[in-house]
Amino acid sequence: MTTVRLNSADPVSIDTDALIVGFGPGNTPASGAESLEAAFGGRLAGSLDAVGFSGKAGELVKLPTFGAIAAPLLVAVGLGDSPDLEGLRRAAGAAVRSLAGTSRAALALPADTAEQAEAVALGGLLGAYAFSRYRTNGEQKAPVAELTVVSGESGPAAERASVLAESVALVRDLVNTPPSDLWPAKFAELAEQAGGKAGLSVEVLDDKQLKDGGYGGIVGVGQGSANPPRLVRLAYSHPEAGKTLAFVGKGITFDSGGLSLKPAASMDWMKSDMGGAAAVLGAMIGIARLGLPVNAVGYLCLAENLPSGTAQRPSDVIHSYSGKTVEVLDTDAEGRLVLMDGIARAAEDGPDVIVDVATLTGAQIVALGWRTAGIMANDDAVRELVVEAAGAAGESAWGMPLPEELRKGLDSPIADIANLHPERWGGMLAAGIFLKEFVPDGVRWAHIDMAGPAFNKGEPYGYTPKGGTGAITRTLIGLAERHASI
Ligand code: BES
Ligand code: MN
Ligand code: ZN
Repeated sequence: MTTVRLNSADPVSIDTDALIVGFGPGNTPASGAESLEAAFGGRLAGSLDAVGFSGKAGELVKLPTFGAIAAPLLVAVGLGDSPDLEGLRRAAGAAVRSLAGTSRAALALPADTAEQAEAVALGGLLGAYAFSRYRTNGEQKAPVAELTVVSGESGPAAERASVLAESVALVRDLVNTPPSDLWPAKFAELAEQAGGKAGLSVEVLDDKQLKDGGYGGIVGVGQGSANPPRLVRLAYSHPEAGKTLAFVGKGITFDSGGLSLKPAASMDWMKSDMGGAAAVLGAMIGIARLGLPVNAVGYLCLAENLPSGTAQRPSDVIHSYSGKTVEVLDTDAEGRLVLMDGIARAAEDGPDVIVDVATLTGAQIVALGWRTAGIMANDDAVRELVVEAAGAAGESAWGMPLPEELRKGLDSPIADIANLHPERWGGMLAAGIFLKEFVPDGVRWAHIDMAGPAFNKGEPYGYTPKGGTGAITRTLIGLAERHASI
């Protein structure tokens, strides 16, 4: 893992391989880096201008320093007009990402407040990510190993940023790991190890316990695979806690669709269908390491959705953990089946709020695109709080309704409810309406559909790499930090 520390030294004298400097419009360096122009004999702003750099957000230019400052390389990164915290994270992330193969870098971006210093450190750490476990040719450059953030702050910003970044890196690693190396029992084992190390208490229900316990949804989805399902319960408690949060994550280690098989083109990235469970694990570890004054429980609903002679069939009826029966009209609508059991189980912990996180529907991507998660809830204040926490984390999210008229389409001729709505339109909302049925009366609940945000199929941007993004992990930690508002 990349390390980060704060340092109040003059950036021109910092002994490092690359100095990253944030510039605003007119190529004025960020506060803390004013001595730079003088070190370059008053020719820096003009030189940046000459190479077409103007300080707009998203711009990045590298210049050799020819001995003018201690670092041999200057990376100028555009900040635009008065960047917010996410602007700082993204600028830091993009600059550090561009330096893969360099061992040390210092960041001179606006970091006068503790929040800004944390944002710069966090963006840098999130940009210093690589998943190279499966490379044998050594061609992939290693991420920057040591970061220094130029700041007069001396608080816990660097420490907090490291905890957050390590949680996100764990989530990205899990999402990027191929399903041949991450099946439900293996995921549960990793959760036991990583969760145990962070001080969480971890319980794992195996397939026999799930069958005996009446978890018909998790069992049904998992029964087509030679790799049986698991339900992991992670728990954290704090002596001063007033509130209990429950997180429930969809953990389909591979979603082929089951007998309602997906077309090949929609299947190739379905290793990411456990992104919700990974985010819950990462968040629980982060909450424990930060020692937040809350109680939190996290459920990982783990199954592999494959077709076979033992797979569940469209038209099967399953008995959910809540007691309700469900007609499985489409085995590819499996996420809601594992979550319904997870939600009903989580309610037994008596939480103040349940938040489920899932790569649940392609309809989320149709509605909101790749980067914006949909937030639904049975309580307006809870929904708004989740949207607010996501916004503060720089994780794009948007509140969505749960229109009651969609419930009718989920009627089954033989069971309490069907898992498929006959209409495509509003598919993200129909899935939310289905889940809402399994939230006991009086329990506050929010549902996060992050089918798009969990996995970046495109090119890297800001601090976000290609592949697993770690999305929503920091939103969940942010919710735990907002415990007083829950
Ligand atoms: N895991 C998929 C949803 C998904 C799609 C995630 C694209 C990430 C990217 C989910 O299990 C699924 O297959 N949903 C179906 C539901 C439908 C059958 C009601 C879908 O969205 O097509
Ligand atoms: Mn599916
Ligand atoms: Zn799925």
